[in-house]
Parts: sequence; structure tokens; C-alpha cells
Amino acid sequence: MALITKAIKGTQDVLPACSHENQFVEDTMLRVAQRYGFHEIRTPVFEHTELFQRGVGDTTDVVQKEMYTFEDKGGRSITLRPEGTAGAVRAFLEHGLFNEALPQKVSYLTSCYRYEKPQAGRLREFHQFGVECLGAAEPSADAELIGLAHTIFETLGIADLSLEINSIGCPNCRKTYHAALKSYFSAHESELCATCQERLQKNPMRILDCKSPVCGQIAENAPVVLGYLCDDCRKHFDAVQAHLDAMLIPYSINPRIVRGLDYYTRTVFEFVSNEIGAQGTVCGGGRYDGLVEELGGPHIPSLGFALGIERLLLVMHSQNIEFPQPDACMLYIATMGERAALEASSIAQSLRASDFPVELDTCGRSLKAQMKYAGKIGAQYTLVLGDNEIEKGVYALKEMASGEVTEIAADEFLETFIETAILGMESDLREMFGLEEE
Ligand code: HAM
Repeated sequence: MALITKAIKGTQDVLPACSHENQFVEDTMLRVAQRYGFHEIRTPVFEHTELFQRGVGDTTDVVQKEMYTFEDKGGRSITLRPEGTAGAVRAFLEHGLFNEALPQKVSYLTSCYRYEKPQAGRLREFHQFGVECLGAAEPSADAELIGLAHTIFETLGIADLSLEINSIGCPNCRKTYHAALKSYFSAHESELCATCQERLQKNPMRILDCKSPVCGQIAENAPVVLGYLCDDCRKHFDAVQAHLDAMLIPYSINPRIVRGLDYYTRTVFEFVSNEIGAQGTVCGGGRYDGLVEELGGPHIPSLGFALGIERLLLVMHSQNIEFPQPDACMLYIATMGERAALEASSIAQSLRASDFPVELDTCGRSLKAQMKYAGKIGAQYTLVLGDNEIEKGVYALKEMASGEVTEIAADEFLETFIETAILGMESDLREMFGLEEE
């Protein structure tokens, strides 16, 4: 029994009392991204395993240790997406979007799956909001993207996230950097974990973001990539900073950011919070000029970022940020008897179709229990309908907060209720803005 009443480790439910928070942040992010020219793309939750091996990189922790990979009934190796970039780029190639006007700018909201050790801010199923800008090589694109993330945080009212940036160069300058890393880590080879001993030969940069504490400690004194940038990469990085300065976006340079995925080139960045524990990176991204080509397409310099929704909500909660509340029930219709129930269905259907949140009894409760329920759900008005009211053709609408009752002729009820409700809303607004009643 426990198996079917307990969610899988590292997954979490969003209950109705909280889902408005997710909706609010997701709507805000999509809306702000649209202002920057990003439009939503939706891709499947699973892809061919090879896409992630080639895209994310087969020496990364994500591919080597964390993917949910299985064989489907047709014998294909399938993987639940560990991130959103590879799928977006695959769709860009498959649908020939590179033939359209560039850059193509896409945004997405996706669930992602990584077999990691669950802890605060680290889940096995988590959600990302991400954007990808495909076909923009200029430093202004890097700054635009960072500006978008900055505006999202600002719009959500989040303070105190620090933006850290770095450049990890291009394949050219990385050659000399890799040689320097190899020589540094070779001196510590026997202390490295088995995976990093292998990485030392294939991709020494990956040792820098190994999650093993011993490797992490050794990596602390490793040479940093900024010292090895070629002229073009250096110029690009300087220009990104000049754009950020022009946009008045505060940042610091953290030469230790290398990111955990293989596709990055040049600019990388993270927005970090120190309020939510060890998993403080809320947003991460960067440029990936070689990825489209790596996946079989033309050379199309590109970049993007993704932001973890669960971590974002942790930060918002820790900063006591208020979320707009969903519309509460405006009218509860309590009924006694068959005829009243039919009339209640009719009224509720009309008002709901006109955008008013209305509830009625669907549990066969006593009148007393119905009124108690109306109180619990915070109904603004109640209407009690019985044979008496229906025969008389007069309904009594009660405003719950003031207790004020208004008698309304049955055939004018819908119209009068809508007017009353709208007037009520206006007086709320008047109060909100501190205006005198007319
Ligand atoms: P990432 O840094 O692996 O980058 O993930 C981006 C964000 O997803 C992280 O900053 C974090 O907020 C959230 N995240 C990652 N893993 C977990 C987890 N196990 N539990 C909860 N949240 C998590 C990417 O995925 C890249 N695709 C970003 C990108 C897009 N780069 C270019 N375009």
C-alpha cells in the first residue's frame, strides 16, 4: 500500500493551495520573455539517449550518472530529458528553423529528470523555465539574455541574487587550458574519484565540477580558464561586460564557473542565492556556439539559460514575497430541495460562463453544513434557495462580510447580481487606491 500512496523519492506534488504560486511565476516568465522576443516551444519529455550523450556530453555527471534511461518496447534507448536545451536544438534542426530569420528565440517550461541525491532545492523531477537564442554571435546577445533573467527576477520582486559571470573560451583557447589542467590534475591523479581519473584523459575541465568532495578540494587550486583566453574570446568577454555596464546590471566575475554541461563556449553565468542552502544556483546558462553543429546542423552560434522553478520558489518564500491570490468564490448558492437545486445549477452555469467564480452544493449537505462550507471557502455572497423562495419569486442575496441582505426578484437575479458584484469590486478598488466614495 505504501508504494502507491507515496510519491517517488525526489519528486514533489504541487497542491491546489500552492499551485497559484507556480502559475504566477510561470506566467510572469513567459510574459517577460515575450517582451525580449522569445516565444514558447514545447518538446517531448523523452528523446533518443544519443541526443543527450552528444549534446550534453558523455563525460558530464548528468550523462554519466544522472539520466533516466530505458529501452522502450521497440528496443530503442530513450532518456527522460535532464534539461531543455538539447531538445530545443533538436527541434530547431528537425523543423529547419535555421532557414527562417535568425536569431530564432524560444522559451520553454519543462519538467526535467536527474537521478541526483535529493536535498533542499535538489530534486529528481524538477521544472525549468528556459530560453534559447539560436543564431546570434554578438556580445549584445549574451547581455540581452542576462538582462532578461535580471528583469524576470526584478518583476517577481526578488532581491539579493548575485550574478556571476565567466568566460570559458572557445575550442582553440581551450586546448592550452586543457593541457594546463592535465598537468595540474596529473599530480593528484591517485586521489581523484574513478570517474575523474577517466576524465583526466578525455575532458579534464569536467573534474572542476565533480560533486565528490575530494575532487572539489583538489579543484580549488586548479588553474582558471580566464588566464588562457584567446584574443577573440577576451574581446567578446570584455564587450559582454561593457553591455552589462551600459544596462546597469550588477555582476561579478567568478573565474571558477565552468557549468556542468559540455556544450558551453565563451560566456557562462549563474544567478546565485545564499538564502536557500547549498543548492543556491537559481539560474544558469551561457553560450554554446558549437552545439548546433555537434548535433548535425550548420555552424550557428547560440546561447541560453534555464532557471529552476522549485529553487526560485524557495528564494521567494525565504524573502516572504507575496503572490497574487487566485479569485475566491464570489457566490455560494445553498439549496433545499429538487427545484432549488435545478435553479442553482442554472444560475451557476450562467454566472460561471460570464467569468464569475460560483459554487453550489454537490454533496447533498444540510443547509447548516452548506453555510459552514461557504464560510470555509470564503464566499463573498451567499444565496439560499428553497421551495419558498422559488414560489415567491424573490431571492435574498447576502453579503457575507457585512451581513447585509438584498432582496432581488428571481427574474432579475442574474443581472442584479452581476451589477452588485461589479459595484462591490469597484468599491474594493476605490479602497485600494485610497479614494473617497462618491
Ligand atoms: P543547469 O545549470 O544544469 O543548466 O540547470 C539550470 C537550473 O535548473 C539550475 O540553475 C537549477 O536552478 C535547476 N536545477 C538543475 N538541477 C536541478 C535539480 N536536480 N533539482 C532542482 N533544480 C535543478 C541547464 O540545464 C542548461 N540547459 C541551461 C541552459 C539553457 N544553458 C543554455 N541554455
